[in-house]
Amino acid sequence: MAPSVRRGRSGNRAPADEAAAWILAGRAFVRDRLQPVEIAISEDGRILAIGKVLSGAPRHDVGEGVILPSATDLHVHFREPGGPADVETIATGTVQAALGGVALVGEMPNTDPPVADVDALAEKEARVRTRAAVDVLLYAAPSDPRALGRLAVRAGAFKLYLSPTTGIATPPDPAQLGPLLVRLASLGLPVAVHAEDPTRFARDSDPKDPTDWNRARPPSSERAAVERLLELAPPALRLHIAHVTEVASVVRLREAGVSFEATPQHLLLSQRSGTSPRTKVNPPLRSEADRRALWESFVRGEVPCLASDHAPHSTTSKDRPFPLAPSGMPGTETMLPLFLARVRTGELELPRLVAAACDRPARWFGQPHGRIAVGHRAHLLVVDFRVRTRLGARRLHAPCGWTAFEGSEAIFPREHYFHGERIVSDGEFVGRSNGTVVRPEFAPQPR
Ligand code: NCD
Ligand code: ZN
Repeated sequence: MAPSVRRGRSGNRAPADEAAAWILAGRAFVRDRLQPVEIAISEDGRILAIGKVLSGAPRHDVGEGVILPSATDLHVHFREPGGPADVETIATGTVQAALGGVALVGEMPNTDPPVADVDALAEKEARVRTRAAVDVLLYAAPSDPRALGRLAVRAGAFKLYLSPTTGIATPPDPAQLGPLLVRLASLGLPVAVHAEDPTRFARDSDPKDPTDWNRARPPSSERAAVERLLELAPPALRLHIAHVTEVASVVRLREAGVSFEATPQHLLLSQRSGTSPRTKVNPPLRSEADRRALWESFVRGEVPCLASDHAPHSTTSKDRPFPLAPSGMPGTETMLPLFLARVRTGELELPRLVAAACDRPARWFGQPHGRIAVGHRAHLLVVDFRVRTRLGARRLHAPCGWTAFEGSEAIFPREHYFHGERIVSDGEFVGRSNGTVVRPEFAPQPR
């Protein structure tokens, strides 16, 4: 048996009878700042104690590295089952997450068949249990009212699409939206909504580039969908708005106390970032002025969550005439590294990034991690801010083989500990298929 940890002069108290398996030592992001600490980790991968000096178990010192909590990515599409396996699977998607510093992903239900009943959910759970490299929370689609009750006791969250997108042809009848939201509120799970109002989409548009795409699905469709949701959602609904693209939405959702996310693509790319259908995404990339305003709002800490909306498509399907190309781009591997690079340049403060990428998404999923704190899971990263790379699809791990962030500066985690076990070492994946299916352990916290 491992010896129990003796605390140094300062630090949090561990339960007296708990034994530490090992100790991680170095400069760590604890209580909102970087400070030299030692972190005792239990056999089953929880943080037992944090102190200036701990002893009684083997010690790993991270040297010049910085210890951060792992990220949670609220929004990924791993295409399994039913998708082409050469584009993405649960195995390949979760390895990219691990390499990008993400310990928990929220996997979306627009797979084939969609996760709209308990059988489809059980099928996906079984795949996660044998193939996932990190933990997975499974969204269900609330498309069949008869299936909702059974889904709610087993799924991790619901995802509602108000407009057609990949794999979702028919959004709910607008007249039924109010009653549906009331029903979902009674079920207690978090409910993420893809908020674009299709009645505001341009008719007869012939989009040839991202600028046309932004005109075809304009910001006013997001505004209309957000207003409608705020009007219809009962106060008990645990509402979260996916991929917000506009500061107007940020302001409204903050006023209303509703959770939301922004993606790296809407924060870092705009319709000026090229004409390729690879940057075609729903909602569309916006104008450079809108992007800059969203970025500034993120820098001020007004956007609670960062999420990738990792939505890979093959190059053959993407490199077609713009109207024929599907929407979406990969991004779970590059999300945190792109933003760590912005911390290095001083464009973004580390506490803002940790809040948006680690702490608040985990709290929204009701999970005890995302902060380096006693009792939390030991999902931890070691980052060396001196080691920068330029993103290139060839060095990434997405089977689709491309990134919209080609050439951007990034800082990848050197090490990743998942439930206390090392799954990334020197930037290489060394883990196993140890991921589990998680559900909220406490009520989602939007703030
Ligand atoms: C997503 C996909 O391809 O699954 N595409 C996208 O443009 N974001 C679906 C979605 O989230 O709308
Ligand atoms: Zn999505």
